Amino acid sequence: MSELLEDDPREVLCSCSGTTRGLIIELVKQGKDLEGISRYSGALSGCGGCEWEIGELVNQLQAEQPKPPKA
Ligand code: FES
Repeated sequence: MSELLEDDPREVLCSCSGTTRGLIIELVKQGKDLEGISRYSGALSGCGGCEWEIGELVNQLQAEQPKPPKA
């Protein structure tokens, strides 16, 4: 597991919206992509300063999610 995933879930990653690491992890588990996370939480819709870190976190989470079986 990477550092980004091990850090404090209460840490605010987007100060414009107050979105925490824990909320982003939860939203990815629900199947939301970056756009969905932004729409739901308001992250990435202000100054954009959180874009890299949240993008990296979402990429890592999605890489660790079990893939649905192929039809
Ligand atoms: S810190 Fe996330 S949009 Fe500004």
